[in-house]
Amino acid sequence: MNNTRKGLVPRETIDEIQSRSDIVDIISECGVALRPAGQSYKGLCPFHDEKTPSFTVSPQRQMFYCFGCQTGGNVITFVQKHEGKDFRETLEWLAGRLNITLPTQDPRESANQKRISSLENLNHFAVEYYHRQLLTERAAARARQYLEHRGVQPKTLRSFQLGYAKSGQRELVKVATDKGFTIQQLIDVGLIKDEDRGPEDRFWNRILFPIQNERGTPVGFGGRALSEEHQPKYLNSPATVLYDKSKILYNLDKARQPIYKQQRVLLVEGYMDVLMLYQAGVENVVASSGTSLSEDHARLLKRFAPEVVIVYDGDASGFQATQRGLHRLLAEDLRVQIALLPAGEDPDSFTRQHGVEAFTELTHKAINLIEFQIQAAIQSQDIHRIDVKTQIVKEVTETLLNLKNRVERSEYIKYAARELHVDERVLWGELRDAGLKETAVSRPTPQKRGVQQKLSARAQIEHQLIEALIQNPALIPYVKSQFDCQHFTEPRFAKVAQSLWEATTNDDSQGIDIQTLISEYPDENLSAFISGALLRKVPAPNPKARVDGCLKKLRNFHLQDLEQRVRSHARAEGADEMETLEQLVKLSNERRALRNRGVDNTHDENLNEEGVDNEL
Ligand code: UTP
Ligand code: MN
Repeated sequence: MNNTRKGLVPRETIDEIQSRSDIVDIISECGVALRPAGQSYKGLCPFHDEKTPSFTVSPQRQMFYCFGCQTGGNVITFVQKHEGKDFRETLEWLAGRLNITLPTQDPRESANQKRISSLENLNHFAVEYYHRQLLTERAAARARQYLEHRGVQPKTLRSFQLGYAKSGQRELVKVATDKGFTIQQLIDVGLIKDEDRGPEDRFWNRILFPIQNERGTPVGFGGRALSEEHQPKYLNSPATVLYDKSKILYNLDKARQPIYKQQRVLLVEGYMDVLMLYQAGVENVVASSGTSLSEDHARLLKRFAPEVVIVYDGDASGFQATQRGLHRLLAEDLRVQIALLPAGEDPDSFTRQHGVEAFTELTHKAINLIEFQIQAAIQSQDIHRIDVKTQIVKEVTETLLNLKNRVERSEYIKYAARELHVDERVLWGELRDAGLKETAVSRPTPQKRGVQQKLSARAQIEHQLIEALIQNPALIPYVKSQFDCQHFTEPRFAKVAQSLWEATTNDDSQGIDIQTLISEYPDENLSAFISGALLRKVPAPNPKARVDGCLKKLRNFHLQDLEQRVRSHARAEGADEMETLEQLVKLSNERRALRNRGVDNTHDENLNEEGVDNEL
């Protein structure tokens, strides 16, 4: 199977890692408290907030599933989700734990890996060195005072590993080279500059904020000057192989899990904003650190939450940055809200002055982007003037065009029409002129997020069939030979069926190993579906009979489809009547044959009595 998806790790290695990593151990190690409950373990789900445990782990199956939020999978999926790692990183992490080295095929690749990890080591060293300086050096007394004065508590100072660079020009150069790091390495991570006079520290007399990537590896520093005269206010590491500011969001490593849990992220401008909010208990916060938001930033955020609240400084540049950031986020299909701070305030100063409750309230009152655009316009000019209104309509149209979600778009159109006192149809017209295909009439009915929709009778049978197959993979080749997965009507089930069919060869009498399937198709929905099917209920006593029952019903549905198609074809095209009649007779004979076929009927009734759960 496709090797790139696994990042060139051989199947056997993955199998070994998986079989030696006990899911109960790993989940416990990741901080989830599990208690034995019958054959499995239960605990509070780390992926959503709950008071009674619905998170289930089966040591037998080596799978987990949450009956509350329907997240599930195997040990690899768990680590991926919980630790925010990708597939390769997860394998590395699990392998590291077991002292297995992952083979890297390309020697150039591994040389580069070595170089990178030595630079990471250097950064780790520098973080610790500067941190120790801040905590213990006499020369750092002013820096400590400064932080205290700004309300940074010792606990915060430690958890963010703040540091201090003394006033000397060659402090770090000395200790780092003594430690065995080379000048070139120091230059490569941007900690020193190669001047005519020789190598010099980049940072001096500054408080240092270590910048980590989303996995917690230090990649650079932001250095705050202690006085107005010392410019710039913040000096940052230059771009290096480890630090690309368009890919880094400050504090994402610590905020990742709170963001995931709350399904929303607060985006602020500055290091201090993050520190002070975090200290006050608002943990789902990251900073763009004064750079404009990039496509990569937006994608990074999207890995963790669908919604971003922008809380930029209440000044002109914060306002402009908000507008720019907004479009980036929208283009990645994120929901965006904007919290407006009073003029002259930033989240840090606002929270210190008004308290964290007031801040939280502000983020809950955040407005949507069209509101923001319109309010911004209203604040700055007279929207009753026709030229101003025309201009705003143009801007709003552009924003609406960027929106990928149709339901949201149509809601925003209603809002904009109301606020700007223009007819909704005018806005739809503008959108069409700007190239939008869909019309007001064709917009779909909203689907509530998170609300389970009732499955049609047919989809319920499809669900039962798939579940039976996952519980009894040995039956997959049989069903595959009998039923085309194209005939599933519910897209989710069709997708799962397709993966099952693809993974099974016809002569494969054992069916497939479901664990393998999850690793081969690292698709969240699939693994959640599979673990749900495996952990939810006691499998049917006679799986073959159940599968046959489902097949029979689905074939019946399919034949009905065909009949209908033949009929409507006949009506529409005035086709050969005899031929149509023949086809219809043939189809209805098939259906009758299906009804009379010797599948035992008691089972059939079971299928109905048992009812179908709509949980997935
Ligand atoms: P601010 O000027 O709003 O600083 O810049 P701040 O975060 O409120 O910091 P304090 O409270 O004055 O200490 C916001 C962010 O822009 C970046 C930094 O990341 C800063 O946190 N910035 C700002 C720079 O990189 N360089 C600068 O000179 C200024
Ligand atoms: Mn600020």
